[in-house]
Amino acid sequence: MAPRRLLLVGEGNFSFAAALSETLDQNTRLTATCLQRPAELTRDPVARKNLRYLRERGIDVRFGVDCTQLTDVFELHDREFNQIYFNFPHCGRKAGVAKNRELLAKFFQSCADVLAEEGEVHVALCRGQGGTPADKPQREWHNSWQVVAMAALGGLILSDVYPFSCKAVPGYKCTGYRSQDKCFHVEGALNHVFTRSLPFEVSQPRIFRIKVGNQWFSFPEPEALVGKLNRGFLEAPSCHPIKTINEKLIAELGKAFPLKRLKCSFPLLPQEDASVLPFWNCDFLSAAFWISLHEDNSNSESLTGGTSQDVEDFLVSFSELSLPKNPGRDGKEEACEGTYGQAKVCLRPSLLVHVQDVIEVPDFLSGSLHILSGPVFQKCHILPFTMPAFHETLFILGFNQNLKDGCLQSLLDHLKGILDSLLTQTLLESSKLSSLVEFVLQSNGKDYMIHVKTHNFRSDCTEDLIIGSVTTSATSVIHKDQCFVFVSMNLDLLAMLVWCISDWRMLWTFDNRFLKNFVPGKIEPFKSHSLYPPCYVHDISFWIDEKKGFDELEFHTVARAVSQDTVISIQFLSRFQHPKTQQVIWEQSRTSLGT
Ligand SMILES: C[S@@+](CC[C@H](N)C(=O)[O-])C[C@H]1O[C@@H](n2cnc3c(N)ncnc32)[C@H](O)[C@@H]1O
Repeated sequence: MAPRRLLLVGEGNFSFAAALSETLDQNTRLTATCLQRPAELTRDPVARKNLRYLRERGIDVRFGVDCTQLTDVFELHDREFNQIYFNFPHCGRKAGVAKNRELLAKFFQSCADVLAEEGEVHVALCRGQGGTPADKPQREWHNSWQVVAMAALGGLILSDVYPFSCKAVPGYKCTGYRSQDKCFHVEGALNHVFTRSLPFEVSQPRIFRIKVGNQWFSFPEPEALVGKLNRGFLEAPSCHPIKTINEKLIAELGKAFPLKRLKCSFPLLPQEDASVLPFWNCDFLSAAFWISLHEDNSNSESLTGGTSQDVEDFLVSFSELSLPKNPGRDGKEEACEGTYGQAKVCLRPSLLVHVQDVIEVPDFLSGSLHILSGPVFQKCHILPFTMPAFHETLFILGFNQNLKDGCLQSLLDHLKGILDSLLTQTLLESSKLSSLVEFVLQSNGKDYMIHVKTHNFRSDCTEDLIIGSVTTSATSVIHKDQCFVFVSMNLDLLAMLVWCISDWRMLWTFDNRFLKNFVPGKIEPFKSHSLYPPCYVHDISFWIDEKKGFDELEFHTVARAVSQDTVISIQFLSRFQHPKTQQVIWEQSRTSLGT
């Protein structure tokens, strides 16, 4: 096994190195360094003693090592450190925050060159210096060393932070207060652990190919949904929390109702099929992502070999999709093969589009819960709890008109109990609320929205989130004298609440560290690998042509695509109309967040 390699930079009297060396196993190699030359340390008896001790133990000790120039010190074959430590960095004398920030920034950039792929950089800072909310009290950002922002310059993210404990390294004696042999206060100090962030790559939309009958069609992924199609979170090998939460929900409901699970198709919906959307949900369509399918006669076999640069090397075979029929030359509708130059389809905005198909199947069982689960896509405003792609589970229950009230109540009671218990461990404790889930009756007196009360730690108040809906009013959907209840659940929101995941984009990350948090089938506390990412707020304003109109939803969708999801919130601030020219200015405030 390759040895684990530790690097200490900016040592003062080498007491940390000496203490740490005592705890190391056979397979760990320590390199302890300081900026000073040996002659500068000879006056300090503690340093002399520690250096003697380290040499006796065969520890690699180096002098004159500038931690902002680590590649000058370590040859290519000698890099790849698993852990780099810098305890209480300081430029010396009375250096202020700006100088110390600069030291941190250059240090982190230098670390990036000598750190192993899964390595860690540990930085201990005195109380308040880091400027993160982990500091108690938190110092004002502009007055702090802005450690997460400085680390970001080296492509590093804060993955852990905990109190710096002198007890963990007995014998350590801090030194170097304002460049003197004096110690300083370490009460309230924090150890910050940084790891590499995935590089931000501008992703190009992938090209998808689908087969309808014998004909291949292709379409590019909508720009606002790059990386969100065909991720397979709910499929068999996945251990994604969305799958775990879905399986728990279904298993619990299965204790009270017979279940019938149905397979969900690829999420494309032909324009024609959109008409099956129940009337009470026609709104969905205005927010759907419409795409054009192009006939694609390129050799499909060549794609499976992965030779093509711009086409994803997987194919979506989708025989169930019946495309809208184009009028033929004689005015008659023609079959699909060979007749489409282009066809208009949308990405399914909700699973409710499938209800008619489900209830009309000959073996539809009254009294059983029919279950569909799959990804859905809706254009939406950019907000922390609103996502353009998420996973939905739809429960469809059919029953006789005269049994309606009993069946409905039983379903609602069970669902409420299950949701309350799923959310209890995390939300109930933190919010000190007695009940979390509420079915809020809508103005039509028949449908419900499923609200969850959650505690917003930023504003320290209670917030309402809508995680699903119960529809009983679908009078147009009556089949064989049965009536139906449709319960739709947003699994992504539910998973975020159960594991206290504060950012929906985390669910879609390609970073393996996210999934490592989850044990398949279990709900255990979640700890993010990226803490307190730096956040920036910008205001933008622009003239609009009121005659052409301004589509706010489209503006958010373009911002999402252009920023590649780095913007987490957009708020409308004000509208100004010039008194003479009548021209209009819109002002938006944007908050963006790194990962
Ligand atoms: C407050 S002292 C802390 C010393 C020691 N790490 C400890 O915990 O006692 C700050 C240290 O940062 C070191 N330092 C400042 N700039 C440095 C640089 N560019 N490279 C390496 N060390 C540096 C100084 O030499 C000094 O020893």
